[in-house]
This record gives sequence, C-alpha cells and structure tokens, in this order.
Amino acid sequence: ISAERGGFKHFMLKEIFEQPRTVGDTIKGYVSRDYLLPFNLRDFRRILILACGTSYHAGLVGSYWMNKYLQTPVEVMYASEFRYADVPVGERDLVIAISQSGETADTRYSALSAKEKGATVLSLVNVMGSALDRESDYTLYTHAGPEIGVAATKTFTSQLAVLYSLAVSHLPDRDRFMEKLSSVPHMMEEVLGEAEQIKKVALKYANRKNMLYLGRYLSYPVALEGALKLKEISYIHAEGYPAGEMKHGPIALIDENMPVLVVVPRDRVYEKVLSNIEEVLTRRGSVISVGFRDDETLTKVSKDLIGVPEVDEDLTPFLTVIPLQLFAYYIADHLGLDVDQPRNLAKTVTVE
Ligand code: G6P
Repeated sequence: ISAERGGFKHFMLKEIFEQPRTVGDTIKGYVSRDYLLPFNLRDFRRILILACGTSYHAGLVGSYWMNKYLQTPVEVMYASEFRYADVPVGERDLVIAISQSGETADTRYSALSAKEKGATVLSLVNVMGSALDRESDYTLYTHAGPEIGVAATKTFTSQLAVLYSLAVSHLPDRDRFMEKLSSVPHMMEEVLGEAEQIKKVALKYANRKNMLYLGRYLSYPVALEGALKLKEISYIHAEGYPAGEMKHGPIALIDENMPVLVVVPRDRVYEKVLSNIEEVLTRRGSVISVGFRDDETLTKVSKDLIGVPEVDEDLTPFLTVIPLQLFAYYIADHLGLDVDQPRNLAKTVTVE
C-alpha cells in the first residue's frame, strides 16, 4: 500500500472514496456560475451528446435531466457510432462532447466533424489542455483531479454534477436545484460508510459467470455503468439492460444461476421495476437490489439489498452508482485481478 494511493490498496478504491470531495469540488465551480457560457442551452434546436464508455453513460443520465428541464430535444450517441452514421448536424445544434481524458479519438473526431458542419461544440473534460479541450468552441471542466485507475469512477460522478448544473442552469429557481445538488456529497459519504456491507454482498457473487443489471429511467444508465465496471475489472460477463425491455429478451436467460442486480430507488418507475423483480423471482432468479435503505418491500423481494439514503429522484444516480463501483471492485480484488490495469484495456483510447 503506497502513499500515493493514500493508504488504499488500489487507485480505483481511492478514487471511489474520493467522490464526495471531487463531486463537491465540481459543484462549487458551478454553483458560483463561474463557468457562465455566452449562450443559453435553450437557444439550440437540439443537443447532441457524444461520448464513449463511462462518459457515454454520464451523457445518457444527462439527457434525461436535459429533456426534463430544458425541453430541448436531446440525443445521445456513442461517438464511434456518430462518426459514420450520416447524422444531420448543423448550425442550430449544440454538440456536447464528454471525455475524461479529452484524448479519445472517436470523441475528438466526432466533435471536429460536427464543428465543421457548423455545430457549436461544448466539451466536458477532466484534463485541461487536452486535445478535445483545445479543439472545442467551449469547454467545461470536471475538476475531479487525475484519475489513474483505468476504470472510470470519480470522473463519472463529476460529469453528472456538471450535466445536472447545465440542465437546470436556466431555471428561475435554479438556486434551489443547486442547493439540492450540494447535499449530494454528504449522502455519498453515507453510502461509502456501507462499504464493508457492500463487500460482503459482492463476495457472494464472485464466482458467478454471468450477471444481469437492470434499471429504468435514470437508473438505466446506472445499470449500464455497473455492468461495464464488472466486465472491465472482474472479467465476469455482465449485461446492463433497461428493466422494461427485460421481457423482450433477457428474461429467457433467467434461472437459478442468473443473479440479477436491479437498481430501484423509489422514483417514478419504482412500481414498474418492482413488477420486473417479481418476474425474475417467478423464474427463480436471485435479486440483488440497490435502492433506498428503508425500503421494506424491497427487503422482502431481494436476496440482498444495498441501501442508499433517500434522495430526490433526479439525484439518485450519484448515490446508486457507488455500490456498483464497489461491487465490481471487491469482486475483482477478491479474484486477485489487476484492478487498476485490467487486461486488454487502456485508460485512453487514441486510435479509432
Ligand atoms: C477507455 C477507458 C474508460 C473510459 C473510456 C472513455 O475505454 O478505459 O474508462 O470511460 O475510455 O474515455 P474518455 O477519456 O473519453 O472519457
């Protein structure tokens, strides 16, 4: 355990635990309106979010907030898909390119091509002076500090903080929204306080070959991100899926050997996701749920419940993603894998 890892066994674990501070730091910059952009997001005909990997998942969460509060059509695409997809883009479009490193080739080249077609490019990067930072019309920073672990963690939640700030930036009661956002770091701290409990749950599943992650609405991208973390560092096959789509395919996979992790905070789709859980149970699948900690209904239907503090539905992704990051981490570490440098993966992919 080296000093640079701050007493943690791996950078990834350190970075997971840094999140209350990094999200707090990010929020500070946005509460103060230091970042003021010379345009209103609502002036655009539509917003197109382009990103890869974990940054794409942050973009998906952001799109739900933007659709809700900006009422401007928002689309999210993998940058690698956008590149060759003939998507019409023009002067009245705002492209938000999200990249931790600001060096991901697919994201850079997509942003450049959109810019060439007349779109305004606003990038969201963690590394100041990176290529994407330089190539964009405007840049916002995530202030998460250097991220060393190959699997992104703290930059995801900082990206969320910026995207939320943007989505509410034009609202007359913006301050009230930002105040709510400012209460998030403290609640993240509470979730991290449950790390030992999360570890216990995780280790029960360390020898599984497959897992399904489900979530709906804002928890859908969280499920995708949780499954990505598990694949990346533990090499367990995990599939993230929108809970409502389960009946159109993945349900065929469910039997007693398929653990299903469901992200199910008490939000607008809570009841719907509970019925998905019932469908899993009917097929003898075991359910691990990540939901609000006082949720008795969920306790009854879950083999394991990982509880997070109750929070406004908008802000649930900040809290529910942490148990999923830790879940993947503890399994990978238990399996003796190289958590910070997983096989075949690079922190930054500078080739197309
Ligand atoms: C690589 C990393 C991921 C990251 C993705 C996008 O695949 O392993 O953790 O999410 O690139 O990186 P970016 O720097 O563009 O956010």
